Amino acid sequence: MKGKFIVLEGPDRCGKSTQAKLLVNHLTSLGKDVILTREPGGTPTAEQIRKIVLQPGLDVRPMAELFLYEASRAQHTQEKILPALEAGKIVICERYTMSTAAYQGYGRGIDLDMIDTLNRIATLETKPDLTLVFLMSDKYFVKRGEYLFSDRLEQEDAAFRQKMRKGYLDLINQTPHAYLINADQTIEDIQHRVLELLKETHITD
Ligand code: TMP
Repeated sequence: MKGKFIVLEGPDRCGKSTQAKLLVNHLTSLGKDVILTREPGGTPTAEQIRKIVLQPGLDVRPMAELFLYEASRAQHTQEKILPALEAGKIVICERYTMSTAAYQGYGRGIDLDMIDTLNRIATLETKPDLTLVFLMSDKYFVKRGEYLFSDRLEQEDAAFRQKMRKGYLDLINQTPHAYLINADQTIEDIQHRVLELLKETHITD
Protein backbone atom coordinates (compact mmCIF):
# COMPACT_ATOMS: atom_id res chain seq x y z
CA MET A 1 0.00 0.00 0.00
CA LYS A 2 1.38 3.41 -0.94
CA GLY A 3 -0.11 5.47 1.89
CA LYS A 4 0.21 5.26 5.67
CA PHE A 5 -2.51 4.24 8.09
CA ILE A 6 -2.41 5.77 11.59
CA VAL A 7 -5.00 4.77 14.19
CA LEU A 8 -5.69 6.64 17.42
CA GLU A 9 -7.12 4.47 20.16
CA GLY A 10 -8.09 4.62 23.81
CA PRO A 11 -11.03 4.91 26.19
CA ASP A 12 -13.61 7.68 25.87
CA ARG A 13 -12.43 11.21 26.73
CA CYS A 14 -8.74 10.33 26.51
CA GLY A 15 -8.05 13.26 24.16
CA LYS A 16 -7.88 11.30 20.89
CA SER A 17 -9.89 13.81 18.85
CA THR A 18 -7.77 16.75 19.99
CA GLN A 19 -4.58 14.90 19.09
CA ALA A 20 -6.02 13.71 15.78
CA LYS A 21 -6.73 17.32 14.72
CA LEU A 22 -3.28 18.49 15.83
CA LEU A 23 -1.72 15.66 13.87
CA VAL A 24 -3.68 16.51 10.72
CA ASN A 25 -2.54 20.14 10.99
CA HIS A 26 1.05 19.10 11.54
CA LEU A 27 1.18 16.66 8.61
CA THR A 28 -0.65 19.08 6.32
CA SER A 29 1.91 21.77 7.18
CA LEU A 30 4.60 19.31 6.02
CA GLY A 31 2.83 19.12 2.65
CA LYS A 32 1.37 15.63 3.18
CA ASP A 33 -1.97 14.57 1.77
CA VAL A 34 -3.97 13.62 4.87
CA ILE A 35 -7.50 12.50 5.61
CA LEU A 36 -9.09 12.34 9.05
CA THR A 37 -11.80 9.80 9.68
CA ARG A 38 -13.37 7.82 12.50
CA GLU A 39 -15.11 4.65 13.61
CA PRO A 40 -17.87 3.86 13.95
CA GLY A 41 -18.67 6.01 10.92
CA GLY A 42 -16.52 7.75 8.35
CA THR A 43 -18.87 7.35 5.34
CA PRO A 44 -22.58 8.19 4.98
CA THR A 45 -23.64 4.54 5.41
CA ALA A 46 -21.29 3.93 8.33
CA GLU A 47 -22.42 7.18 10.00
CA GLN A 48 -26.01 5.86 9.87
CA ILE A 49 -24.81 2.69 11.61
CA ARG A 50 -23.03 4.91 14.17
CA LYS A 51 -26.32 6.63 15.01
CA ILE A 52 -27.96 3.29 15.78
CA VAL A 53 -25.13 1.84 17.82
CA LEU A 54 -24.59 4.95 19.96
CA GLN A 55 -28.20 6.02 20.50
CA PRO A 56 -28.80 6.40 24.26
CA GLY A 57 -31.54 4.14 25.62
CA LEU A 58 -31.76 1.93 22.53
CA ASP A 59 -31.82 -1.83 23.21
CA VAL A 60 -28.72 -3.11 21.37
CA ARG A 61 -27.66 -6.60 22.49
CA PRO A 62 -23.92 -7.34 22.71
CA MET A 63 -23.79 -9.54 19.61
CA ALA A 64 -25.82 -7.03 17.57
CA GLU A 65 -23.53 -4.29 18.83
CA LEU A 66 -20.47 -6.26 17.68
CA PHE A 67 -21.89 -6.78 14.19
CA LEU A 68 -22.89 -3.13 13.88
CA TYR A 69 -19.32 -2.03 14.60
CA GLU A 70 -18.02 -4.59 12.11
CA ALA A 71 -20.58 -3.55 9.49
CA SER A 72 -19.51 0.06 9.86
CA ARG A 73 -15.87 -1.03 9.55
CA ALA A 74 -16.45 -3.13 6.42
CA GLN A 75 -18.15 -0.21 4.67
CA HIS A 76 -15.62 2.36 5.86
CA THR A 77 -12.57 0.26 4.94
CA GLN A 78 -13.75 -0.51 1.42
CA GLU A 79 -15.30 2.83 0.60
CA LYS A 80 -12.79 5.21 2.14
CA ILE A 81 -9.68 3.83 3.85
CA LEU A 82 -8.35 1.49 1.16
CA PRO A 83 -8.88 3.91 -1.76
CA ALA A 84 -7.12 6.67 0.21
CA LEU A 85 -4.18 4.41 1.05
CA GLU A 86 -3.96 3.24 -2.55
CA ALA A 87 -3.84 6.91 -3.61
CA GLY A 88 -0.82 7.38 -1.32
CA LYS A 89 -2.58 9.42 1.39
CA ILE A 90 -1.99 9.38 5.12
CA VAL A 91 -5.19 8.14 6.76
CA ILE A 92 -5.71 9.14 10.38
CA CYS A 93 -8.54 7.19 11.93
CA GLU A 94 -10.03 7.62 15.39
CA ARG A 95 -10.60 4.03 16.55
CA TYR A 96 -10.39 0.85 14.51
CA THR A 97 -10.16 -2.89 15.25
CA MET A 98 -8.49 -2.47 18.64
CA SER A 99 -11.59 -0.69 19.98
CA THR A 100 -13.71 -3.76 19.26
CA ALA A 101 -11.27 -6.06 21.05
CA ALA A 102 -11.12 -3.64 24.02
CA TYR A 103 -14.85 -2.81 24.34
CA GLN A 104 -16.71 -5.85 23.04
CA GLY A 105 -13.95 -8.33 23.95
CA TYR A 106 -12.41 -7.23 27.25
CA GLY A 107 -15.37 -5.02 28.20
CA ARG A 108 -18.36 -7.20 27.32
CA GLY A 109 -16.62 -10.57 27.46
CA ILE A 110 -17.17 -11.65 23.84
CA ASP A 111 -14.63 -14.21 22.63
CA LEU A 112 -11.47 -12.45 21.46
CA ASP A 113 -10.64 -14.99 18.75
CA MET A 114 -14.06 -14.51 17.22
CA ILE A 115 -13.58 -10.73 17.29
CA ASP A 116 -10.19 -11.15 15.66
CA THR A 117 -11.76 -13.21 12.85
CA LEU A 118 -14.52 -10.65 12.30
CA ASN A 119 -11.97 -7.82 12.32
CA ARG A 120 -9.93 -9.57 9.62
CA ILE A 121 -13.01 -10.05 7.47
CA ALA A 122 -14.29 -6.49 7.90
CA THR A 123 -10.89 -4.90 7.22
CA LEU A 124 -9.85 -7.19 4.35
CA GLU A 125 -6.73 -7.70 6.50
CA THR A 126 -5.86 -4.00 6.42
CA LYS A 127 -3.51 -3.26 9.34
CA PRO A 128 -2.43 0.10 10.75
CA ASP A 129 1.18 1.22 10.22
CA LEU A 130 0.98 2.89 13.62
CA THR A 131 -1.50 2.61 16.50
CA LEU A 132 -1.32 5.23 19.24
CA VAL A 133 -3.16 4.22 22.40
CA PHE A 134 -4.00 7.08 24.77
CA LEU A 135 -4.60 5.94 28.34
CA MET A 136 -5.35 8.14 31.33
CA SER A 137 -6.13 7.49 34.99
CA ASP A 138 -9.79 7.23 35.96
CA LYS A 139 -9.83 10.51 37.89
CA TYR A 140 -9.18 12.41 34.66
CA PHE A 141 -11.99 10.57 32.90
CA VAL A 142 -14.50 11.68 35.53
CA LYS A 143 -13.17 15.26 35.56
CA ARG A 144 -13.29 15.60 31.77
CA GLY A 145 -16.77 14.11 31.64
CA GLU A 146 -18.40 16.73 33.83
CA TYR A 147 -18.89 19.03 30.87
CA LEU A 148 -19.50 16.50 28.14
CA PHE A 149 -22.50 14.82 26.63
CA SER A 150 -22.53 11.07 27.35
CA ASP A 151 -23.51 8.59 24.66
CA ARG A 152 -24.74 5.04 25.34
CA LEU A 153 -21.27 3.59 25.72
CA GLU A 154 -19.83 6.44 27.78
CA GLN A 155 -22.45 5.71 30.44
CA GLU A 156 -20.74 2.42 31.32
CA ASP A 157 -19.33 2.31 34.85
CA ALA A 158 -15.84 2.46 36.30
CA ALA A 159 -15.47 -1.34 36.47
CA PHE A 160 -16.10 -1.56 32.72
CA ARG A 161 -13.49 1.12 32.12
CA GLN A 162 -10.96 -0.80 34.23
CA LYS A 163 -11.52 -3.92 32.14
CA MET A 164 -10.96 -1.94 28.98
CA ARG A 165 -7.83 -0.35 30.32
CA LYS A 166 -6.37 -3.78 31.04
CA GLY A 167 -7.53 -4.84 27.60
CA TYR A 168 -5.76 -1.98 25.90
CA LEU A 169 -2.53 -2.75 27.77
CA ASP A 170 -2.67 -6.42 26.67
CA LEU A 171 -3.53 -5.44 23.11
CA ILE A 172 -0.61 -3.02 22.83
CA ASN A 173 1.71 -5.92 23.70
CA GLN A 174 0.14 -8.16 21.07
CA THR A 175 -0.09 -5.63 18.22
CA PRO A 176 2.80 -4.69 15.93
CA HIS A 177 3.53 -0.93 15.80
CA ALA A 178 1.23 -0.11 18.77
CA TYR A 179 2.40 2.36 21.44
CA LEU A 180 1.06 3.48 24.79
CA ILE A 181 0.80 7.23 25.35
CA ASN A 182 0.25 8.62 28.84
CA ALA A 183 -2.82 10.83 28.36
CA ASP A 184 -2.56 12.41 31.84
CA GLN A 185 0.03 14.81 30.40
CA THR A 186 -0.69 18.23 28.91
CA ILE A 187 -1.96 18.49 25.32
CA GLU A 188 1.44 19.86 24.25
CA ASP A 189 3.43 17.06 25.91
CA ILE A 190 1.16 14.44 24.40
CA GLN A 191 1.53 15.98 20.95
CA HIS A 192 5.29 16.05 21.39
CA ARG A 193 5.29 12.31 22.10
CA VAL A 194 3.01 11.62 19.12
CA LEU A 195 5.35 13.47 16.76
CA GLU A 196 8.36 11.62 18.21
CA LEU A 197 6.67 8.31 17.49
CA LEU A 198 5.90 9.36 13.91
CA LYS A 199 9.60 9.96 13.41
CA GLU A 200 10.64 6.75 15.16
CA THR A 201 8.36 4.74 12.88
CA HIS A 202 9.58 6.65 9.79
CA ILE A 203 6.18 8.07 8.89
CA THR A 204 7.86 11.49 8.96
CA ASP A 205 11.60 12.20 8.56
P1 TMP B 1 -16.35 8.03 20.00
O1 TMP B 1 -16.45 8.23 18.53
O2 TMP B 1 -16.81 9.17 20.80
O3 TMP B 1 -15.05 7.50 20.43
O4 TMP B 1 -17.49 6.95 20.40
C1 TMP B 1 -17.53 5.70 19.92
C2 TMP B 1 -17.97 4.75 21.03
O5 TMP B 1 -18.09 3.44 20.48
C3 TMP B 1 -16.97 4.66 22.16
O6 TMP B 1 -17.66 4.57 23.40
C4 TMP B 1 -16.27 3.35 21.91
C5 TMP B 1 -17.29 2.53 21.21
N1 TMP B 1 -16.75 1.54 20.27
C6 TMP B 1 -16.89 0.20 20.56
O7 TMP B 1 -17.44 -0.17 21.59
N2 TMP B 1 -16.42 -0.72 19.66
C7 TMP B 1 -15.82 -0.37 18.49
O8 TMP B 1 -15.42 -1.23 17.70
C8 TMP B 1 -15.68 1.05 18.20
C9 TMP B 1 -15.04 1.49 16.92
C10 TMP B 1 -16.16 1.96 19.12
